[in-house]
Amino acid sequence: MKLLITGGAGFIGSNFIHYILKNHPEDEVVNFDKLTYAGNLANLKDVETDKRYKFFKGDIADKSSVLEAIGDCEAIINFAADTHVDRSLLDPDAFIRTDIIGTRVLLDVVKEKKLKRYIQISTDEVYGDVEKGIFCKETDPLRPSSPYSASKAAADLLVLAYRRTWNLPVLITRCTNNYGPNQYPEKFIPLAVTNLLQNQKVPVYGDGLQVRDWLYVEDHCRGVDLVLRKGQEGEVYNFGANQDPEWPNLKILEAILKQLNKGDEFKSFVADRAGHDRRYAVDTSKAEQELGWRPTTGLTEGLKATVEWYVDRQDWWHPLKSGEFLAYYKKQYQDRK
Ligand code: NAD
Ligand code: DAU
Repeated sequence: MKLLITGGAGFIGSNFIHYILKNHPEDEVVNFDKLTYAGNLANLKDVETDKRYKFFKGDIADKSSVLEAIGDCEAIINFAADTHVDRSLLDPDAFIRTDIIGTRVLLDVVKEKKLKRYIQISTDEVYGDVEKGIFCKETDPLRPSSPYSASKAAADLLVLAYRRTWNLPVLITRCTNNYGPNQYPEKFIPLAVTNLLQNQKVPVYGDGLQVRDWLYVEDHCRGVDLVLRKGQEGEVYNFGANQDPEWPNLKILEAILKQLNKGDEFKSFVADRAGHDRRYAVDTSKAEQELGWRPTTGLTEGLKATVEWYVDRQDWWHPLKSGEFLAYYKKQYQDRK
């Protein structure tokens, strides 16, 4: 298959491109990415001379650019998005443009070019937070809490509306929090590891007892690949680790502190995120039964490997923690008591 992968220079997109090139020697990939602050071609350095890989710089909200890049691609997998909840609280504009308008543009291209498949990479955040013991099903109502998750929910509704109206061959995935190599250091796990390696404290929002169901990024990539090849058109698939017992943020941080031989004085409790979702959890039985998907990397093992990756790859993250990042960090954290 020839695939147009949008947002391929970001965290999950770059891991997905590696996954495809490694596991599907017959596939070709066009990586279509705007290269925002979160896009980083260093994530793909090792494949840039692969004949099956091409990079195209462009914006998914710009239809002419998408049409120029699409060539004879048969499918689009849309990872492109503005993705950081905290940034969506500071300024939602880019979220509305990329996550909603960009998705609409891609759907129009699928319709016009009669593509065979469109995969929308959504998120468990569209369900909003849920009480302990509840696991959201794909048919549950969408109750997003932040401008980020509201923009992702709007995109999901557009995808489903294009399915109903024009019978497009679309599918949606909704995954829990990913972690692993190549994650921009504004997100909790890479922020914690890189701050500690720089001898800086780690900001913990509120009481730190919020729960995320952390999934190793390669497990998510395998799920998206299964959806691409075996998923049923018009369907939504949840992915998550089903971590049992659950790991609140503080437990994650404590494991990282231990691995890096740092003490409790590196925890900095700060004001909570506005509208902070307390707990996410999804029911993954549909992906397990229909696609034969299961997570393979446990959190203890995956977190250890991830911390080691950031320890070894200071050449990767040092350049990122400068300029734009520092200005953002100051705005987000300086007066946060
Ligand atoms: P990321 O922020 O690391 O990367 C986003 C990529 O999209 C970057 O390369 C950026 O340059 C590109 N991009 C942004 N705007 C664009 C535009 N207008 N046109 C083209 N490219 C653009 O994101 P991520 O964490 O890899 O997330 C990828 C997708 O997965 C997103 O859709 C996100 O909502 C979803 N998701 C993320 C997680 C997670 O834990 N990170 C979990 C579930 C779902
Ligand atoms: O659930 C899937 C979502 O996971 C994706 O859709 C988003 O794109 C992705 O960014 C992620 O959202 P979160 O808001 O859960 O991720 P983040 O890494 O920002 O935060 C994880 C948890 O850690 C959350 O409860 C907030 C907390 N946190 C985060 C930061 C950055 C802190 O306590 N301190 C921090 O400095």
